Parts: sequence; structure tokens; C-alpha cells
Amino acid sequence: MRIHVVDHPLVAHKLSTLRDERTDSPTFRRLTDELVTLLAYEATRDVRTDEVEITTPVAVTTGTRLSYPRPLVVPILRAGLGMLDGMTRLLPTAEVGFLGMVRNEETLEASTYATRMPDDLSGRQVYVLDPMLATGGTLVAAIRLLIERGATDVTAVVLLAAPEGVEVMEKELAGLPVTVVTAALDQRLNEHGYIVPGLGDAGDRLYG
Ligand code: PRP
Repeated sequence: MRIHVVDHPLVAHKLSTLRDERTDSPTFRRLTDELVTLLAYEATRDVRTDEVEITTPVAVTTGTRLSYPRPLVVPILRAGLGMLDGMTRLLPTAEVGFLGMVRNEETLEASTYATRMPDDLSGRQVYVLDPMLATGGTLVAAIRLLIERGATDVTAVVLLAAPEGVEVMEKELAGLPVTVVTAALDQRLNEHGYIVPGLGDAGDRLYG
């Protein structure tokens, strides 16, 4: 597994405003959307492409087109839904699947309550969206499901990651074709499983 922390002043600026407890829900949604588009630019650096011949008004040349099948984008409900538009702005022809997962706030274990995506993902490139990588339980379960269905390249796009969660993912997904792209790697998890300093509960701040 690879982790890529996006180092860019606009990412840092928007993330700082997201973290601020005074940022209201409409602003939080807009900033999440903008931030994801910046992360998507980095996350799609290895998107699969083909070389094609194109004819300009002046000459015939070679160009680049996204390969088929197009990538699959999978937001993890609820909070990942706030990242979908920002991602599909850069990948408008992507297919979209949905995973509903919730973390038990006592045990911190993740469970899946909805799955709506193709059964066969053989050879597919998949982008998973979830703002928070806390204990890692949610993303490990989601990525295992995608790989069991045949995905051969999975990139998780997150806003914040905790070192504890990254460690769990590295252990549980060792040797698998997985990349995590994050706007920041925070300090730690607190006793309630919240990322510190973090930004609070992303689902609540997006959707109340
Ligand atoms: C939050 C977050 C992640 C998960 C991260 O979702 O959006 O999905 O917790 O935690 P983990 O890395 O410890 O598994 P939550 O369960 O609060 O659901 P929601 O998105 O519906 O609010």
C-alpha cells in the first residue's frame, strides 16, 4: 500500500477552514467539494489511458483518452457522498457505485448496510471516497470487498488520515494494489476514535 499526502498551499488553506469549528454546513460542503477536486487531480495521476489518433483542424496526431472500462468511483455513505461531485467533475464519465457503511461508536467496528455496484470488477480501477481514515476499519472492509470482486487497482481519497488507521491498512492490505491519497496525516486518534486535531464528525458537519 502506498500513501500520498498532498502538499499544496490551496489544499492546506481549504483544509484549515474545514477544520475550524465555526465553519457552517453550507461552507463545509462547498470546501469539501473544492478540496476533493484538488485531491482528485493527484489521485488520478495513474488513471489508465490509451493512445489514440486524433485529427486537429491542421494535422493528424496522437492523443490520450481514458481507457475502457472507465474507472469506478465509490463514495462510502454518508460522508463520502459529499466528495462525489468533486471527484466526478474531473472524471465525468466514471461509473459510480455506492457503499453504505457505519462505524459503531462504542466498538468502533465498521459494518456494511448497503452495497450497490457491479458484482464483477475484474481488472477495474476504483476510486473510493471517504473523508476520514480513523481506525481504518471502514476502508479496510470496503477495499477488501472491491478486491474480492476483482478490482486490480484501488485508490482511497480521504481528507484526513490518522497514523493508527494508516498502520492498520498497511498491515491488513499488505501487498495489495492500494493507494491512499490524503490532504493531511494528523497526529493521532483520541479515546473516542476521533482524529486529533481532525475536523470533528465529517458526516454530521456535512449533513447535520
Ligand atoms: C465515519 C467516516 C468513515 C468512518 C471512519 O463514518 O466517514 O466512514 O467513520 O472511521 P474508521 O476509519 O474508524 O472506520 P460514520 O460511521 O460516522 O458514518 P457517516 O459517514 O454515515 O456519518
